[in-house]
Amino acid sequence: MEKFIRGLPKAELHVHIEGSLEPELLFQLARRNGVPIRFDSVRALRESYRFTGLQSFLDIYHEGAAVLITERDFYDLTLAYLEKAGSQNVRHAEIFFDPQTHTDRGVPFETVVSGIHRALEVGNRKLGITSKLILCFVRHLSEQRAMETLEQALPFKHRIVGVGLDSSELGRPPEQFVNVFARAREEGFRVVAHAGEEGPPDYVSQALDLLGAERIDHGVRAIEDPELMKRLAKEQIPLTVCPLSNVKLRVFASMAEHSLGRLLDAGLRVTINSDDPAYFGGYVTENYLAAQRALDLDRDRIHRLAANGFRASFIAEAERNAFLEELDDYVAAH
Ligand code: HPA
Ligand code: ZN
Repeated sequence: MEKFIRGLPKAELHVHIEGSLEPELLFQLARRNGVPIRFDSVRALRESYRFTGLQSFLDIYHEGAAVLITERDFYDLTLAYLEKAGSQNVRHAEIFFDPQTHTDRGVPFETVVSGIHRALEVGNRKLGITSKLILCFVRHLSEQRAMETLEQALPFKHRIVGVGLDSSELGRPPEQFVNVFARAREEGFRVVAHAGEEGPPDYVSQALDLLGAERIDHGVRAIEDPELMKRLAKEQIPLTVCPLSNVKLRVFASMAEHSLGRLLDAGLRVTINSDDPAYFGGYVTENYLAAQRALDLDRDRIHRLAANGFRASFIAEAERNAFLEELDDYVAAH
């Protein structure tokens, strides 16, 4: 099973590029840019990655992101992620970035997008990984600030497929961002949103009904609402589930208690993703392996999870069919 999972052609639809910043690269960039850090070794930094919930993670994640300053930093960060993803047979990646985390520190929007974009092109050409970029608004800042960020993104529309919503969820329901998502939809952006990670199932419904979300990031707390479960199954709304993240951030006390298997068996379009792989102990393969072991997922379920990743992606129909065929061929041969 482990070998089967490692070689499986995969799509990754929920990865924050800032969350793929490994401690080694973090130290290297800090040195290159003269940014002070309060840890004296990679090991000490890694050992600080113990979280009590989403906010305790976000504090450390924002601290880490402060070493990203130049276009080259964003390029190096993104290329390192793609190389790792490629080694795990990720064939297509839809990558989040949080521009406000950088523009608030004085890093220009263009620097961020250009560095990431240049790496995505190299990833496509040299690693054969197709990719899309999704801008996330941070919900700890106001809708007005999100609107300003959307304005900044308009000249780069051709490089950004969609918009999402991330950061501190509790007390910040999707309804607070209705106007900026309406504007984003008018501008032709696809829409996703984090909901039902720490927040209640009602936030999932709000993301669908008020923001026009086509996919829900996490959504694992939908399991608490039978009516919502029926709707998600009927409408085949994809959930981008991140198993290791949910255990690290204590959404579930252990992997054995994770809702992923129940969501999948209820007919929901569940996918497996890494969220912030440098902080949560693994990339997409480690997420598949941890969930498979704890929930005893069989080959058919693993196949379905991988197929759901391609089905839920924002790629053209012909490309999607080619990936699904590649996946079916792999499963038939292994
Ligand atoms: N949830 C919300 N915001 C985030 C996350 C997450 O898991 N990762 C990075 N920003
Ligand atoms: Zn996330």
